[in-house]
Amino acid sequence: MAGGEYKRVHDRSVADIEQFWGGEAERIYWHEKPRAALDDSRSPFNHWFPGGQTNLCHNAIDRHLPARADQHALVYISTETDQTRTFTYGQLYREVNRLAGVMRGLGVGRGDRVLIYMPMVPEAIFAMLATVRLGAVHSVVFGGFAAASLAARIDDAKPRLIVTADAGMRMGKVIALKPLLDEALGLASVPEAQVLMLDRGLVSGAARVAGRDHDYARMRGVHMNDEVPCEWVPSSHPSYILYTSGTTGRPKGVQRDTGGYAVALASSMEYIYCSRPGDAWFCTSDIGWVVGHSYIVYAPLINGSTTILYEGLPTRPDPGVWWKIVQDYRVTGMFSSPTAIRVLKKQDPAWLARYDLSSLKYLFLAGEPLDEPTSDWISRGLGVPVIDNYWQTETGWPILTAQPGIEDTPRKIGSPSFATYGYKLEIRDEHTGAALGNGHKGVLCIVPPLPPGCMSTVWGDDERFVSTYFSSFEGPPVYTTFDWATRDEDGYYFILGRTDDVINVAGHRLGTREIEEAVQSHANVAECAVVGVADPLKGQVPVAFVVVKDSTRIDSPVTNAAHEQEVQRAVDAHIGGIGRPSRVHFVAALPKTRSGKLLRRSIQALAEGRDPGDLTTLEDPTALEQVRNALKAG
Ligand code: PRX
Repeated sequence: MAGGEYKRVHDRSVADIEQFWGGEAERIYWHEKPRAALDDSRSPFNHWFPGGQTNLCHNAIDRHLPARADQHALVYISTETDQTRTFTYGQLYREVNRLAGVMRGLGVGRGDRVLIYMPMVPEAIFAMLATVRLGAVHSVVFGGFAAASLAARIDDAKPRLIVTADAGMRMGKVIALKPLLDEALGLASVPEAQVLMLDRGLVSGAARVAGRDHDYARMRGVHMNDEVPCEWVPSSHPSYILYTSGTTGRPKGVQRDTGGYAVALASSMEYIYCSRPGDAWFCTSDIGWVVGHSYIVYAPLINGSTTILYEGLPTRPDPGVWWKIVQDYRVTGMFSSPTAIRVLKKQDPAWLARYDLSSLKYLFLAGEPLDEPTSDWISRGLGVPVIDNYWQTETGWPILTAQPGIEDTPRKIGSPSFATYGYKLEIRDEHTGAALGNGHKGVLCIVPPLPPGCMSTVWGDDERFVSTYFSSFEGPPVYTTFDWATRDEDGYYFILGRTDDVINVAGHRLGTREIEEAVQSHANVAECAVVGVADPLKGQVPVAFVVVKDSTRIDSPVTNAAHEQEVQRAVDAHIGGIGRPSRVHFVAALPKTRSGKLLRRSIQALAEGRDPGDLTTLEDPTALEQVRNALKAG
């Protein structure tokens, strides 16, 4: 275990919360100073920085104006539309004020929800910042989600306003968004929602609903000179909702506060990411995911950095495109995912040597396990340390990571190093709940309080927050991550996969239940099981096993293949392409226990060529044979 500064800071951060976090709180602007660091009288509903009043947008923009009005705040590079647009902090301030004026004009105020269903364009960031400026709450929905998933999120958050665009682009192909939103609004029950649409000119004649749909450019023109003051909100005021998958088919709205989040992100830019104000920072995630929320938008802007928003693939127009960006903007810190690096690893390594990468100090990777060959390849190719971060949508920032801004501890491949300051971690026995020592595999848990920045509750469902995350074990409640972990004798943690039915496809988190529900939306599906199967590129891919109602429709290899595609399309229509099973296998029965529980783990083991384990409880032993045969038949 690192014995020096890291350990001292970590110990202090969990042992002397008032002093440590009280000090960190000074990194941000408070309209009203907090009277304490933490009020945990209603644990696990913690209140960070009680008494404090602040605003995220003020901390991300206004506060920097005296020193950085002419510094680039946002650089947007699209290799899809061949555009580069830059915004200084002064210009960002103006754009966000205009949009806040538009929103205010459409009736958005404190506490109202604004749903953002946008591609990777600057206006998506303006919309996030304008929302929190007004004290409203955003819910960004990833642009790749299909109508039914979007409708479920609309119904849950009940937005007053939805900000969207005519279309996104991927691999040079236009992907219309507005028709999906129209469809979702038809499915949802929020009749009062207004729509603001950015017309990128990608789709001719996008349909508009009179009285409901408003044009972004026209409204911006009307509010060109608006100055909209920041709404000062209590530290615990919700800043956003971000939906994430779990064991059930119904995604949870992770609710984030304002003050705790701002403080956690501000501190992380120094202690973890070693990024100084004024530095250029490039995070390749999507604003629809938590990494995008925290490390494309809020953390770099709160830090006074220049953040780069990239719309496009890492391989188009050529596999050097990211490294050219690093060179051109003198990027010092970069944040990406193992899958993206595995994609690049298939290309000629000469691309890594083509540009001047001398500005780059670190590459951070998160979202899924980082394998040794990928880590080695990119670290050697770039000549910089690669730092593996482990965290979750729920936490908003890393749980485990090396913290080179505190101490440059040696890294072990395959390990995201140590607990981040602020996190008190335990590995618990899955049955007894006892805290385990080094070398034992158990469930990774966070001992309350969750540090600043972590979720405050499930949107609209306090009970679900407690029952989902804090009820796994007897005794004083601890937060469970639902990840298996071990810690070695040097104190390094290793993450060994999920304990629940959540899978990770190219860094995107999906619930197998959600995908099963989408598969079941196909009329000929009687029953199904979806499992995550190891994949060399994406980490995992979903694979479906289906029992059909009418088996005459799958009686030849040709009809079978056609039926497989139909089921895949049903998932596309329900969730979107990210949930699509890579294969759909048809079987006459699914393996279940005598009590009717689906044996997903055994199916998964077979699909990965492993031993399916103890099968004495199997109701129908031939069912597993069928799975085996279906896999063999390809
Ligand atoms: O299983 C863990 C895996 O991704 C889950 C969280 O996914 P999500 O909510 O989308 O948040 C991603 C934020 C980076 C975790 O429960 N995971 C995330 N990072 C890692 C990881 N697994 C192994 N190593 C990681 N570095």
